[in-house]
Amino acid sequence: MRLQIIETVADLSDRLSDLRAQGANIGFVPTMGSLHAGHVSLVEASVAENDTTVLSIFVNPLQFSPDEDFDNYPRNIQADIACSKRHGVDIVFNPPPSEVFPAGAEIDVKAGEFARLFEGIYRPTHFDGVATVVARLFRILGDCSAYFGEKDFQQLVVVQKMVSNLSLPVAVVGCPTVRELDGLALSSRNVYLDRDERSQASFLYKSLRTGASLVEEGERELRTVIAKMGAVLAQAPLADVEYLAVVDPETFLELNHVEAGSKIRLLAAARFGRARLIDNVGVVTR
Ligand code: PAJ
Repeated sequence: MRLQIIETVADLSDRLSDLRAQGANIGFVPTMGSLHAGHVSLVEASVAENDTTVLSIFVNPLQFSPDEDFDNYPRNIQADIACSKRHGVDIVFNPPPSEVFPAGAEIDVKAGEFARLFEGIYRPTHFDGVATVVARLFRILGDCSAYFGEKDFQQLVVVQKMVSNLSLPVAVVGCPTVRELDGLALSSRNVYLDRDERSQASFLYKSLRTGASLVEEGERELRTVIAKMGAVLAQAPLADVEYLAVVDPETFLELNHVEAGSKIRLLAAARFGRARLIDNVGVVTR
């Protein structure tokens, strides 16, 4: 199928009805554009598992607070369309704000208490903005499988909880984080890093790997793990650390101690100059 670019909800709904009438199932990859290999991995998963893949590009104003980078957020629509074409996307949905929020954001979705933790402390309105736009996009798409990166792990869990709480007809699929060779997780915001910041940014992942290895080797006291992670990140003097933590991946409650055979998630967030970077890794303890 030739790539179609659709800008209105009405056109997308018509097209999806036609496709569904022909028996197609739909894979959906929501993005804010400025596509990189992390987004492409979600597209590849969707293309492999569905007849039709829809990729949305919408820089959602609701999830940025006034002091954040909404105006400067990287936008590259032509490159994004070319990238979508190369990787087998069938429909790029690139709506103006009036299509996504025809009445402004009168009715919004609250992401819940869970979204007040970690990212929610530094970005208090962020997950309400994400939940509101993703709920709206899911309503537009209807029955589909939707692909999200583990890179934004708390976002993935917010979306999973929202789908289950609101009984939306969407299967949420989490996909592994795609990284640069030195471990830095790909992110549209990495363009904000200058040369020195970029060379130190990989310490975020190195610190997470150090923590994961300690737990994998049998360390049970998480205060010790966090201290060692902090020591690794301290090798990046340009890092302004916001949090390093080990949590239960379902509740996001911070853990001090782990038992054998439990699933945990190590989280890290730090500013490097203008860029705010987050990353995480999962471990199942032996
Ligand atoms: P955006 O930052 O463009 O990311 C779109 C999707 O790509 C998200 O699911 C994100 O987790 C995933 N992604 C980003 N970097 C990745 C990487 N290195 N490896 C794997 N996946 C990666 O996340 C958003 O947009 C928005 O909040 C959105 C969900 C579109 C709602 O506005």
